[in-house]
Amino acid sequence: MQTAFIRNSFAVLAVVALAGGAFADESFAQAANESDNPKLDVIYVPTPHQVVKRMLELAKVGPDDIHYDLGSGDGRIVIAAVKDFKARKGVGIDLDPQRIKEAQENLAKAGVGDRVTFLNRNIFETDFSEANVISLYLLSTLNLKLRPTILDMKPGTRIVTQSFSMADWDPEHKEQVDFDDNGYKGSRTVYLYIVPAKVEGKWSMTVGAQEIALDLKQQFQRVTGTAFIGGKPSVIKDGRLNGANIEFVVELDGKPVTYEGKVDGGTITGTNNWNAKKAS
Ligand SMILES: C[S@@+](CC[C@H](N)C(=O)[O-])C[C@H]1O[C@@H](n2cnc3c(N)ncnc32)[C@H](O)[C@@H]1O
Repeated sequence: MQTAFIRNSFAVLAVVALAGGAFADESFAQAANESDNPKLDVIYVPTPHQVVKRMLELAKVGPDDIHYDLGSGDGRIVIAAVKDFKARKGVGIDLDPQRIKEAQENLAKAGVGDRVTFLNRNIFETDFSEANVISLYLLSTLNLKLRPTILDMKPGTRIVTQSFSMADWDPEHKEQVDFDDNGYKGSRTVYLYIVPAKVEGKWSMTVGAQEIALDLKQQFQRVTGTAFIGGKPSVIKDGRLNGANIEFVVELDGKPVTYEGKVDGGTITGTNNWNAKKAS
């Protein structure tokens, strides 16, 4: 791992970049522009193995998962997802042919057969919509550029990023992960995001014999809005989405009632004798 740092002529900038923050973003991108391959949006710095493990644990990678690493470097995250976490399929995408070559060599040693593929492509020109787990170690600016595509993915898709967040999209979880890679010590911040279902708009909710109109607003996983009960407005409280699972609180006859359900396109099926249909 230290060898990889030394090999990189922008090692100093990279180390500064790993500290995170606005300056880090700038240095990282600038170094990529000045590197041998001018098309790269960010230079290569590998994620330490202990951090890789924690990222995959947080994403709860398992046999049902298809994992993509966008900007996959030497392939370590994709290979670990399939080898150590038993993901069904892993795909790494990297624009730098040298990284793809290293990833193929590491794959040959890992013995995970054809469940892992490395693509020498640009992440901004490649369809990764089949993934339900994505890892990113890029830059804040690149995370933001990918964010609309990620938010259009299947609800429940898990995204793990390290060092750089998704700006005003709050993570479900954030933690510091310490590492010691043969004496190269440090700490990285790891973030977990879960793609929320899209619920913004008007819904007709049926609770037993009662009809309630919902006007929902959504900002990422946060849900706010108004419920109209017999035409009378009531503020929706504590609304949130975890993938396709929604919960919110509405006051009925002065008492707060929590509703939980599962969103499937224009239908919400409640866990407790209620459902809702999208009106607009
Ligand atoms: C910071 S490294 C992360 C490597 C790996 N994900 C890891 O965590 O160990 C970023 C990687 O993104 C690749 N990269 C930069 N711009 C890219 C682009 N537009 N499309 C695909 N890969 C890109 C670089 O070649 C580099 O390997």
